[in-house]
This record gives sequence, C-alpha cells and structure tokens, in this order.
Amino acid sequence: MAPLVLRTVAETVAWAESIRRSGRRLALVPTMGYLHEGHVSLMREGRRRADVVAASIFVNPTQFGPKEDLSRYPRDLEGDLAKCASAGVEAVFAPVPAEVYPPGYQTYVDVEQVSQGLCGARRPGHFRGVATVVTKLLCIFKPQLALFGEKDYQQLQVIRALERDLNLGVEIIGMPTVREPDGLAMSSRNAYLSPEDRQRALALSRGLAAAQALYRSGTRETSALVGAARRELEAAGLREDYVELVDATSLTPLPAIGPGQTARMLVAAFAGTTRLIDNQPIGG
Ligand code: PAF
Repeated sequence: MAPLVLRTVAETVAWAESIRRSGRRLALVPTMGYLHEGHVSLMREGRRRADVVAASIFVNPTQFGPKEDLSRYPRDLEGDLAKCASAGVEAVFAPVPAEVYPPGYQTYVDVEQVSQGLCGARRPGHFRGVATVVTKLLCIFKPQLALFGEKDYQQLQVIRALERDLNLGVEIIGMPTVREPDGLAMSSRNAYLSPEDRQRALALSRGLAAAQALYRSGTRETSALVGAARRELEAAGLREDYVELVDATSLTPLPAIGPGQTARMLVAAFAGTTRLIDNQPIGG
C-alpha cells in the first residue's frame, strides 16, 4: 500500500501520537531520499522490530557546507515512495525546508567529541546539522526505535551520543552497510559517478579488505594497516581525504590495535569530484 505522505510537523506529530495511543511500537528510518537497498534494509529491520515503520525524506540543508552538493543532491520522491511501499513503510514525512527551519529558527545540537575528527574535521558544521535534524525528527515522531546505516559510521556514533546525552529514550539501531556485488558501499551519491570513477571507487572497499588481510597476517601497527589501504587508493588514482584507524566507540585514533580492542578503519576519498566514504571493523 502507498505510504501516507505527511508534509507538516503538526500532521506528523498527530499521526505518531495516534500510533502511540493505539499501543503500537513505532520505528523511524530518517533518510535524505534517493533510496537504495541500504535504506530498504533499515525499513525491513524496522518492520521486524516494531509494529509500524515511518520514514523521513528530507535533504537537510544545515548539514551541507556552502561548497557542497545541496542543490544537485539527487531526488526522486515518486520512486522513493514506491520503495517505501514495498518495504512496508506506513508513513513518510517529506517536508519542505521552511517546515523544519521556519523563520526565527535558532536552536542547534552540537555533539562535541565524536564529531571532531574524520568527516567532522573536513566538513565543518556537518554533524551539527545532522545532530540537529535527527534530534528534531526524534522529537517529532517520538519513536521507540530509529535505524541508521553503519556506512555513515561517525554519524551513527554522533546520533548514539545525542540520544544518550539528551535522554531521548529512543533505541538507536545501527545496521551493516549494504554493498553492490563488487563491494562498493551503496550510497545515494554513487549516482554522481562516471563509469570510470565507479570502477575506481572500488579501491575504498579493496583498501579496507587489504588492511583486514594484513591484520589477519599478524600486523597490529596503525601505520602499516593504514598504508595498506592507502596503497589501494593511490593505485586506483583516487584522491585521499583521510584513512584512519580509530577506537570503534570513541573514534579516537589508535597507534596500534591492542589485545581485545575493537578498532574500525574509516576512509574518505574523491573519485573525480565525488566524495565517497566507507569503513570496516579491523580485527577479530
Ligand atoms: O544519513 C542520512 O541520510 C542523513 O545524514 C540523515 C541521518 C537522514 C540526517 O539528515
């Protein structure tokens, strides 16, 4: 069945309230649209864990820098609604920017520590925009749970921190990255890639696999593990933005992987003008 399309905050608050009053558990999947299998996997998991799934489709202007791709970010509401329908989503909140940020809007959410490095250092203000809109969505829907992809791993840690620090009482679920058969992490931004850049982009997942293979062969030092990933990016002609090995929860850089340590490698690189990210646990 086609999902109910909610355009205003007031309608959405009322709809979510009616779900709560009926005693049903609500799962929320926040998105910026141009949905792919990664988003659909979040919706399906939401259905499994709750009675009702809602999604939001909103290209959030506050998380884009002045030189970023806000105006050309891909959009396809019709196609997105069809995907939501097939994934069993009951309602979709698809507001215009002025509904979320009306005149006089002045409140922002800053998550201080986990926002700092990695993408936070390269995209000033990005996580402030993400944290603000996610906080608003959680306040509007008051869902029992909300689902996010691990592809945006730092984002997931930022959202876990804001939920905890603001006592929002929402279970935050992180779901594994969904990949194309050749390993490329699914992303709405893959739509920007030329066929050549699409091929080059495989170096991100190959680099992470190379680091993991080196770990398995006994290497524990960050410089060597990062070097293995970096070589793949260089060989493919990608421009590195960063390759870092960090503690999986605090995201602080690690000099080496100690016994029992949960480490994660995160990479960002440009294929042509398109910035792509990927990450993977290293260890185990
Ligand atoms: O991951 C995304 O698509 C966005 O950053 C999110 C969480 C929907 C906030 O705009």
